[in-house]
Amino acid sequence: MLLISPLLILLSGAATAWQSMEGWETANVTASEGQSQCVCSAYLPDTNLPVGRVEHMQQVSQELMLELNIQITKMTGYKAKLEVFLGELKNLTVRVATLDHDQYIKLDFELLRIELREFEALVTQLKETLNVTSPMFDSLHDEIRNMTLIVNQLESYDKSNLEVIRIEFAKLQRKLEDCQTEGNIHRPNVGNCDHKGLASVRGPMAIQVNAHLNPNFKYGGWGKDSKPVRGYESMYWYGGYSTPSVYEFYLYSDYNKLLLRSSLTHHGLPQGYEGVGNDYIIHGNAVYYQTAGSPPRMTKLNLTDSSYSHRVLAKASERFPYMYSPRQLVDFSADEKGLWVLYATEEAKGKIVIAKLDEKSFGVESVWTTGAFRPSTGNAFMACGVMYATRPRDVSTEEVFYSYDTNTGQEKYLRVPLHKFQENFANLHYNPVDQKLYMYSGGYYMSYDVHFHS
Ligand SMILES: *[C@@H]1O[C@H](CO)[C@@H](O)[C@H](O)[C@H]1NC(C)=O
Ligand SMILES: *[C@@H]1O[C@H](CO)[C@@H](O)[C@H](O)[C@H]1NC(C)=O
Ligand SMILES: *[C@@H]1O[C@H](CO)[C@@H](O)[C@H](O)[C@H]1NC(C)=O
Ligand SMILES: *[C@@H]1O[C@H](CO)[C@@H](O)[C@H](O)[C@H]1NC(C)=O
Ligand SMILES: *[C@@H]1O[C@H](CO)[C@@H](O)[C@H](O)[C@H]1NC(C)=O
Repeated sequence: MLLISPLLILLSGAATAWQSMEGWETANVTASEGQSQCVCSAYLPDTNLPVGRVEHMQQVSQELMLELNIQITKMTGYKAKLEVFLGELKNLTVRVATLDHDQYIKLDFELLRIELREFEALVTQLKETLNVTSPMFDSLHDEIRNMTLIVNQLESYDKSNLEVIRIEFAKLQRKLEDCQTEGNIHRPNVGNCDHKGLASVRGPMAIQVNAHLNPNFKYGGWGKDSKPVRGYESMYWYGGYSTPSVYEFYLYSDYNKLLLRSSLTHHGLPQGYEGVGNDYIIHGNAVYYQTAGSPPRMTKLNLTDSSYSHRVLAKASERFPYMYSPRQLVDFSADEKGLWVLYATEEAKGKIVIAKLDEKSFGVESVWTTGAFRPSTGNAFMACGVMYATRPRDVSTEEVFYSYDTNTGQEKYLRVPLHKFQENFANLHYNPVDQKLYMYSGGYYMSYDVHFHS
């Protein structure tokens, strides 16, 4: 399968036209799923909207509809999705045509420039990682570079148009992702553990630079609440930092808000409550993280009443962090069975110890010792009461190499590959709500679809 990031938004159109500000701003979005492919284009007019351009736009939009209709008949599976697309694109065309040019929205052009630099870095990395020779990738660089020039010129032109472009890109990106995942939404078994364990990990499905747009924020995490409280089912969380410390989180009401970096709330951890290690999660509207200091402590920040609780994790050793970060000693995980923490003890000689936690009391219910040496492990996660540990196979592949079933005490060696974007990553966890893995790698959000043996 061709792995295409939602970020591969082709900012294009004839470059010369772009530069002279007389042409069309064109966004192409391509999604591939198996053999089928859908291509959608959004045409945004230039600043002055002369009648001729509107006519041209209508013509182009008709051609676009024609093309999309052909696509629809080709891919019956995507039919419904594409019709929504079409409606959205028509709507967009109308809205751009009737744009009120007095309503200037303040835009941070510097951020846009940074974002473009990120696009460029991402394309380079994607190209290297995926090892594809595609003209699409080749022209993307030039187009992004041209786009940067255009952004500089646009600054003195119409600001509202740019904001529209940004919002529509985020929307299209979301749709592209829907389109990509359409093929494997078949997940009747969410919440069901009646399967024979991890079979494969597909993806990455989403790659997006962190909300700070800062590639130096290599430490952090992102994901969704694994047991959301009512009304917060579509909430996303993110925290990013330039060091392995944890001092703030952002919550976003949904995926679009995450992409637009428009947070619902921001939680700064007060002095003395800072965390470390980045293996934190949100479960039941509470953040679970490792507190800085010695011995390693677990902290729960209840976001409902903003209360903090601390527990010392009995026997937890400071000598056996995961291999990618020197301070990852306490790894929180949540699955269909509840809340877990993964650490290591001297007694177990550095092997991963699994503890089941009681949410209410924040106490340890049961403990299991596995056979995976923690310092040789990239990270680990729980799914259906089974711990899965990863290690690097090469610079672009991580593999799930070991599992320990707390239901049976059975351990297994396996080789399930996980395509990496960068060699190191700071946070990897499973979410039972959507059966996805969430990874924070080198400042980027990534997610994977998990498939189980039936
Ligand atoms: C957008 O996609 C359409 C259909 O594949 C193609 O004809 C057009 O050239 C593309 N535009 C750009 C600028 O890539
Ligand atoms: C079209 O855009 C308007 C806002 O201009 C919005 O209220 C409406 O819901 C949109 N319709 C669709 C189908 O997206
Ligand atoms: C990339 O693909 C080419 C063939 O398409 C192959 O020869 C080369 O070894 C690959 N490189 C990597 C790093 O996988
Ligand atoms: C970028 O701009 C240069 C000229 O400034 C032009 O030659 C080139 O074709 C453009 N590239 C793309 C992909 O638009
Ligand atoms: C968080 O606080 C609320 C209100 O005090 C309480 O109802 C809820 O059970 C707490 N959640 C956890 C996970 O302790």
